Parts: sequence; structure tokens; C-alpha cells
Amino acid sequence: MAVALVVAAGRGERLGSDGPKALVPLAGRPMLHWSVDALAATPGIERIVVALPPGHEQDVPEGCVGVTGGAERSHSVRAALAAAGDAAVLLVHDAARPLLTPELTAHCLAALDEDGGWDAAVAAAPVTDTIKRAPVGLAVEETLQRSALWAVQTPQVFRRAALEQALSHPDAELAAATDDAMLVERDGGRVRVVAASADNIKVTTPLDLELAALLLQRRA
Ligand code: C5P
Repeated sequence: MAVALVVAAGRGERLGSDGPKALVPLAGRPMLHWSVDALAATPGIERIVVALPPGHEQDVPEGCVGVTGGAERSHSVRAALAAAGDAAVLLVHDAARPLLTPELTAHCLAALDEDGGWDAAVAAAPVTDTIKRAPVGLAVEETLQRSALWAVQTPQVFRRAALEQALSHPDAELAAATDDAMLVERDGGRVRVVAASADNIKVTTPLDLELAALLLQRRA
């Protein structure tokens, strides 16, 4: 059995909303509720812990355990992990991805034990754009081989020891990490991708919010 850690404690400044992004209304309910429902409908998830912004702990969805999130995303993951009991498998999900499905969640959980076992299994979609590296100014240094590139999403599923070790990195390293799996990679862990649909979008801007509403309406 696994415990899901949903991080919902971000402020969402790029969305320009009044309150926290995870609680913004989306297709008639707070954004957070859409992915919590998908997790609750996935067999093998025994508990859902949600990290909420300070002062919003009362907004925890029914049936979930609420904790106060931290200043950085990884602090919120850590706070949620502390309420996860002794589960051997942890699934981390961003509340900012409301298009999560029980099918993708189940695929990520199952992937952890495939091919002799992995330390982490992360949802990802093949990249469709050509990606160039221009680290200094606008000068292109390199064009990456697109067929090898994946745009990584959440859910990200971890063996407990791998996630605990990842979160024990110094704060500056945690703050610079754009996902939890890259810390596992840095520790020499075995991380795999799990093919996901590109419509498991992350809501960052008002345009993303409109698109998420359209995609949810189409599903209904
Ligand atoms: O800001 P961004 O969309 O990259 O955040 C990704 C996820 O991490 C969101 O679901 C957000 O609520 C969460 N987060 C958090 N605590 C923070 C910052 C972000 O739980 N301090």
C-alpha cells in the first residue's frame, strides 16, 4: 500500500489569483479536489496527506490528512511525509495538476516494481518541441536529441528510503531542485519515466486554468 503526498501550499503568484492556487475554483470546485478525487479512486492508496498553505489547514478535503506546508515545495513534501506513517511507498503529486487520472496513478505505482524494481517512477510525456540549450544570453550552444527527451510531471512514486534520502539534501540544493526525482538521480538511484498524456497539464498561468477547465468539461 502507498501513501499519497499532495503538495498544495504554493502561493501561485503567476496565476494572479486572490488566494492559494490549489484552492482556486476550477470547473465548480477548488482545484485541489480534482486530483484528490483521482487519488482516492486509485486502488493501493491507503491515505492521502495534503500540505496546505499556513492559515488554510481547514481547507483539507474530506477524508484526507492536512498538514501545514513550508516555504519551498520540498519543505511541503517533507511536512507531508512526516504524516505518512510507515508506508514503504510514497506518491508525490502537485495539486497544480488537476487532470490526474486513477489510470495514470495506478501505472506509476505498478511501474515501481517492474524490470527488477526502481527507486522512483515518474509520470512524463514525450517532448514535442525541439529543445535548444542557450545558457548564456541568446546564443544557442546545443540542440538536444528530441527522441530522448521527456517532459516530467507528477505523480512521482518513490521507495521510502529514496525519498527520505532525497529530502535530506541541504536546503539550498532542495530549493534549486525542480522535482524530487532529480535528487534521487543525484544520489545514484534508479529512476524511470512512465508514459503519460500531455493533457496532465500543470496550471501556472490564467491560460492554463482556462485550458484545464475545458479539458475537465470534455471529460464530463
Ligand atoms: O509553484 P509551482 O506550480 O511550481 O508548485 C508546484 C506544486 O508545489 C503546487 O501544487 C504548489 O501548491 C506546491 N508547493 C507547495 N509548497 C510550496 C511551493 C509549492 O506545496 N512552498
